[in-house]
Amino acid sequence: MSDDALELAVIRGDGIGPELVDSALEVLAAVCAAESLTLRVLDEPGGAAHYRSTGEPLPPGALERLRRADGILKGPVGLPEVRHPDGTEAGLLGGVMRIGLDTYANVRPIRLLPGVTGATRHEPGQIGYVIVRENTEGLYLSRGAGVATHHAACDQLLVTRAGTERVVRHAFELAVGRAGAPSDGVSRVTCVDKSNVLRSFALFREVFDEVAGEYAEVAAEHLYADAAAYELVARPERFDVLVMENFLGDILSDVGAATVGGLGMCPSGNIGASAAYFEPIHGSAPSIAGRDLANPVSQLLSAGMLLRHAQQPAAADRLERAVEAAFADGAVRLRGDGTPELGTRAVTRAVVARV
Ligand code: IPM
Ligand code: MN
Repeated sequence: MSDDALELAVIRGDGIGPELVDSALEVLAAVCAAESLTLRVLDEPGGAAHYRSTGEPLPPGALERLRRADGILKGPVGLPEVRHPDGTEAGLLGGVMRIGLDTYANVRPIRLLPGVTGATRHEPGQIGYVIVRENTEGLYLSRGAGVATHHAACDQLLVTRAGTERVVRHAFELAVGRAGAPSDGVSRVTCVDKSNVLRSFALFREVFDEVAGEYAEVAAEHLYADAAAYELVARPERFDVLVMENFLGDILSDVGAATVGGLGMCPSGNIGASAAYFEPIHGSAPSIAGRDLANPVSQLLSAGMLLRHAQQPAAADRLERAVEAAFADGAVRLRGDGTPELGTRAVTRAVVARV
C-alpha cells in the first residue's frame, strides 16, 4: 500500500449483499476523499449464486488475489435454495475464507449507539463489548465432514491448545487496548464455555487460564455459556471482551445483536496473522433483497473496522462518527424489525452527508 492509496478487494455476495456493499463503497469513497486517500476497488465474485453457476464458492486463485489487497470487504452470502445433497447450504464462504486465510479470531463488537433502541432496557453507553469468536476450529470444523446415515448424524467439536491459545491471546490484547467494561471501567476478559460438561471446553478453559496469567492488568473470569446468554441480556454492561468457541460465538453474538438494534447494527472482522476480512455478522436475507429495506450499518461499521486494521485510524474515526451522528441527530431511525424507516439508500445518504 502506498501512503495515499487503499486497494480494496470486495465480495458483494448474495441477497442483500450487493446493496449493502454499494452503500459501504459510497461511504468509503466519501471518507477517502475527505482523508485524501485514493480508493481502488477490485471485485471478486463469490457466494451461493457464484456456486450455482460454476460449482465453486470462489473463482480459482481468489484467495491469493484477496491476500494481496490492502483490505477485504465482504457482503453476506448464501441462498436458501442452493444446497448440498446433505441439506447444508452451498456457496457459504465461512469454511473457504476463514480456514483458507486462517483468520482465527472473529471479532464482533456489540455496541448500543445513541438514538438506537435495543430489545432490553439499556441506555446507549451501557452496552459496549466485543465477542471474540474462535473462527477456525470448534464445532464448525466438522462442516462437511460429519458422518450421517438416514437415522443418525454426528459432528465433532475440536479444540486444540494452539488454536485456543492464539485466539485467547487476541482477546487479551484487545482488552489491553480498550477502556474496560461500561459498568466499572475494569478491563476484563470473560471465558465462555461448557467446561462443566465437555472435555473440549475444559481444555479451552485450561488454556484460557494459562494465557490470563500473562496479563496481570486484565481481569479474567469464567462463565458457562448458558449463564453467559442470560447475562448478555440481563447485565450486558459488565462485559468488556468475551472469548469463546466458534459455535458458541456464532449464537451468542446474535443474542448480543438483539440488544443493540438488531443484526443490521453488527460488524465483524475475521482476523489472522497474515490476512483479515470484514463483513456483517448476519446472513444475506434474500426475502428483503433489492427492496431498499436492509440496514447497511453492519456493512458500514465493517468498513470502519477494515480502515482501522489497514492503519487508517483517522478514516475509521470519520466513518464511525458519521454513522453515530446519523443516528444521534435522528436522521436515521430503525423500525422494530431492525429495518431503517427511510430505507437503505437514505441511510447511505445520511451517513455520506455527515462524513
Ligand atoms: C456468521 C454466519 C455464518 C456462520 C453463516 C452464514 C455460515 O451466521 O458469520 O455468524 O455461521 O458463521
Ligand atoms: Mn451467525
